[in-house]
Amino acid sequence: MNEDAIARSYRRWAPIYDQTFGKITHAGRHRAAHQINSSGGAVLEVGVGTGLALSLYQPHVEVTGIDLSPDMLEQAQARTLRDGLRHVKGLHLMDARTLGFADESFDHVVALHIMSVVPEPDRVMAEMARVCRPGGTVLITNHFAHQTGVWGYAAKAAAPLADALGWHSDFERHHVMREPRLELVEEHRLPPLGLMTYLRFRRVDHA
Ligand SMILES: C[S@@+](CC[C@H](N)C(=O)[O-])C[C@H]1O[C@@H](n2cnc3c(N)ncnc32)[C@H](O)[C@@H]1O
Repeated sequence: MNEDAIARSYRRWAPIYDQTFGKITHAGRHRAAHQINSSGGAVLEVGVGTGLALSLYQPHVEVTGIDLSPDMLEQAQARTLRDGLRHVKGLHLMDARTLGFADESFDHVVALHIMSVVPEPDRVMAEMARVCRPGGTVLITNHFAHQTGVWGYAAKAAAPLADALGWHSDFERHHVMREPRLELVEEHRLPPLGLMTYLRFRRVDHA
């Protein structure tokens, strides 16, 4: 998907996202927020969407969010105001491939259900590693393609619909495993039905 297709797709999703896709993907947000809350610090949420995770972070966590879709970001801004989320330090219209932050400026970087949406996932992984401090955490939840079974069949059948759906249903795990500064330390399948996978990486100090 290119930038225009993403903006178009998420303009359609924005008003209904929380009641649809957002509703069945809570497990990953809760798990990520629990991990971040256990240590606190500055977190960047890449592809923050409508901000469904924002209220899950505790007050000792400083959250910055970015997203490419003005419509999704507007929902996140409205939520932040409505719910008085004072730990949210900023929500910015920005492309995850070119993050406008200094190297090593966050303790944690979180990407929830966005890696199969972004164009050039390798570039996004590199940017997330760059802005995370050494020893910090990068968390990803995403659906990855299954090669076999009913889900494998469904993912392949839906693959040509990426622009309409808003993500690539046949996105493969290896796309997020190639960044040398990110070492995988935890991996779990998430409910419902193990459809999503939770990955925790540690930002190592060498390239
Ligand atoms: C499926 S939604 C996930 C939203 C949120 N993280 C959640 O878990 O509910 C994917 C989000 O990624 C955003 N996105 C896609 N490509 C992006 C990019 N290159 N840079 C920043 N955000 C992007 C979309 O606009 C959309 O808000």
